[in-house]
Amino acid sequence: MAGSLRHSAYLLAAAVLLSTAHGQLTGENARKGSTYSIGVGKADITGPAADVNLMGYAAPGQLAAGIHTRLYARAYVIGDAQEERKRFVFVNLDACMASQGVTLTELYGDLYTEKNVALSGIHTHSGPGGYLQYILYIITSLGFVRESFDVLVAGIVQAIKRAHEDVKPGMLQVTAGELLDANANRSPTAYLANPPEERARYKHNTDKSMTLLKVLDTEERGRGAVTWFPVHCTSINNTNSLISGDNKGVAAQFLEGWAAGAGQADANGNDTMGSNFVGAFGQANVGDTSPNVLGAFCYDTGEPCEKEHSTCNGRNEMCIGRGPAWEADDYGYKSNEIIARRQSDEAIELWQSAATPISGDIDYRHAFLDMSAITVYPSNYTRAGRTCRAAMGFSFAAGTTDGPGAFDFKQGDTEGTIFWRVVSHFLKDPSTEQIACQAPKPILLDTGSVHVPYEWQPTIVEIQILRVGQLVILCVPGELTTMAGRRLREAVHQQVEGVWGSDVTVVLAGLTNTYSSYVTTFEEYAMQRYEGASTIFGPHTLDAYIQEFLRLSKAMMENKATEPGPRPPNMISKQWSFLTPVVLDSVPSGSHFGAVTEDVLPVVYKEGDKVRAVFQSACPRNNVRLEGTFLTVERQDPEDSDKWELVYTDSDVSTKYHWARPHVLSPESTATITWDIPEGTLSGTYRLRHFGDFKHILGGPAPFNGTSGNFEVHGLDVKPHKHHKHDDNRHKFELSDWERYVREHSFLIPVFLFALLLLGTVLYRQTVSRRPAVSSHPYERLEVAA
Ligand SMILES: *[C@@H]1O[C@H](CO)[C@@H](O)[C@H](O)[C@H]1NC(C)=O
Ligand SMILES: *[C@@H]1O[C@H](CO)[C@@H](O)[C@H](O)[C@H]1NC(C)=O
Ligand SMILES: *[C@@H]1O[C@H](CO)[C@@H](O)[C@H](O)[C@H]1NC(C)=O
Ligand SMILES: *[C@@H]1O[C@H](CO)[C@@H](O)[C@H](O)[C@H]1NC(C)=O
Ligand SMILES: [Zn+2]
Repeated sequence: MAGSLRHSAYLLAAAVLLSTAHGQLTGENARKGSTYSIGVGKADITGPAADVNLMGYAAPGQLAAGIHTRLYARAYVIGDAQEERKRFVFVNLDACMASQGVTLTELYGDLYTEKNVALSGIHTHSGPGGYLQYILYIITSLGFVRESFDVLVAGIVQAIKRAHEDVKPGMLQVTAGELLDANANRSPTAYLANPPEERARYKHNTDKSMTLLKVLDTEERGRGAVTWFPVHCTSINNTNSLISGDNKGVAAQFLEGWAAGAGQADANGNDTMGSNFVGAFGQANVGDTSPNVLGAFCYDTGEPCEKEHSTCNGRNEMCIGRGPAWEADDYGYKSNEIIARRQSDEAIELWQSAATPISGDIDYRHAFLDMSAITVYPSNYTRAGRTCRAAMGFSFAAGTTDGPGAFDFKQGDTEGTIFWRVVSHFLKDPSTEQIACQAPKPILLDTGSVHVPYEWQPTIVEIQILRVGQLVILCVPGELTTMAGRRLREAVHQQVEGVWGSDVTVVLAGLTNTYSSYVTTFEEYAMQRYEGASTIFGPHTLDAYIQEFLRLSKAMMENKATEPGPRPPNMISKQWSFLTPVVLDSVPSGSHFGAVTEDVLPVVYKEGDKVRAVFQSACPRNNVRLEGTFLTVERQDPEDSDKWELVYTDSDVSTKYHWARPHVLSPESTATITWDIPEGTLSGTYRLRHFGDFKHILGGPAPFNGTSGNFEVHGLDVKPHKHHKHDDNRHKFELSDWERYVREHSFLIPVFLFALLLLGTVLYRQTVSRRPAVSSHPYERLEVAA
């Protein structure tokens, strides 16, 4: 701790020196903005595409089985042009959230540490899970999934390295605009609990403003962009099995595609975009937002749901939000593309409109907070109170209209309710003090009081402020609701504008560095809808964050160091894992890995058609093919029939890689590759290829590949033809009813084994050591438990 303080003192000294050196801007600088040291980098973080529970909906049966789009880490190093140590890194992750288990060490010495690196999740609900360190967040993934975690860490490090190596002089601009049709409030009745005077100041019940940070080189050519806009990445629903970046991941691909494409020339015909443009869509105060903008309707009757509780006939599992293309019945892929397109179109429009050049100092503050015991003092922005040990309320089990699930457990659903009631019963009954502290929340899971086999939810979280000139990024460790985010941003804005100018832009980066569920306003908390029930540190959670953020921003304004705060436990080494490894892969006799079992059709395809081929395959967990692909779409060189040009990979929105086993215990598997031929596809001869790695009973995985027959694609002027519509989920195996039943329910066996083990351990601890938990130090408690 002393070391850290000395470190801060050193930084402080450096900061004071620099602020004097760069105190005055020349007239030129003020107009064009300051020159900064800037680097951008992107790396693949796509984890295991089979067997692993997808993170977010917490639906135990929702296991990965292929890829829609790859997931990426996009890193932005932003630093002072003169002083190398004065820099920060913003990393946007196509992950559900950042994991506290990821800690940076030894990356370019101590140039990048937890203090100046922000890891922010976009909140996709279609990425492989199991990489968080707290039990509640990894129950449905059968505990910790090392494969997910390792890929995430490797990708983050790779992205930061690339950004670091890309550092060169550049400039920044910031602008904002309104995007009306890409989010809706999914808890509008809780929003209405906020004071009318406060609500009257805002036109909408979600934030509609998208902020865009433009990253430019010194010639003002584009190098990258980051946007912040609040919308849940739940466009793709909770029965999907393909890995996807959901609406923000796809929006990033659209923006990067636009930047790389033709038509970006200026009046002189010069390219206005540099190569390797990195565009990120960051999450903001996402808590009560939904991409299902048409509202929530009853699945059976088609009537709007009852508003107060989001129920149909008194039950909530039938109340489902509708995306713009809900009728497509395609797991939400079409709606996803629409919500993605709306965000990328807005970003492009903002890119092309006037923006404010950024000039001024670079700075950052970071603090760990023990959220179980913060005293909140009354102020213009906060009411007096105190925070509580973590606990989840009953409505947490009800889920949301984005899909029952999302630590989103179904209410009324037999497994969900019984499961959580049983868990709740075996966990400690909350103390009277805890009940009073969390009131009016009825406590379902008193997670903050259980420390066996290890922590269930965080006690220590982190907050962080990054500043470059007029742009201030507030990094929050969870999902703030619309009004909660507004209060926090406004408090900081009002505090700093006097010193940094009224043109300061304060943005909020959600799900950053640590995940600790939701944060509502005090008034919304009283409603105890899903978000209030999931506000784990009690009614004063938001006010505690406001108080602590104001403390950090004040210190930043006054060039003072701040206390680092208590360190959270790192529990990665003591994680429980129950996901079974891949034993071996095999093929039916006479076949081979990569053999085409169903070829493309002998027809001429056109734009809008789906091409499909099925290959004999192996488990994708053998090799996640990081920065590689499980499939390619290739086009034959019209001049040279031996040459094939790569057109698409498994990361492109137009391709899908579906992986399937005939039954859970089978070593055989197939890969179904589909390609939805996009508009503007060149005529020619094409083929699909599949790549994978199979595992022998002895020895490591070996690569294989397979190639479909060639097929022709013609433009729209070609005579239309008819061919069979493919069903994406169909595979060649015909299952008996019994096999289907086993297949559909077998995931429950390991989930219940895991739950049973957990409960056994908890029960054992409860009976063996009935010692009162007097220690408030997390390490001590963990040692007692170990
Ligand atoms: C842009 O084009 C003009 C005219 O062709 C040329 O003089 C100028 O150098 C170009 N600028 C850059 C940055 O390439
Ligand atoms: C998800 O999409 C599938 C396919 O369109 C559909 O069958 C299912 O009912 C949807 N589930 C939810 C919760 O919307
Ligand atoms: C609180 O608000 C009042 C009224 O707007 C203002 O006069 C006062 O300066 C504020 N106090 C602080 C500490 O910001
Ligand atoms: C595909 O497999 C063949 C046969 O094993 C191998 O020779 C070839 O190099 C592979 N191609 C690629 C692109 O991996
Ligand atoms: Zn969420």
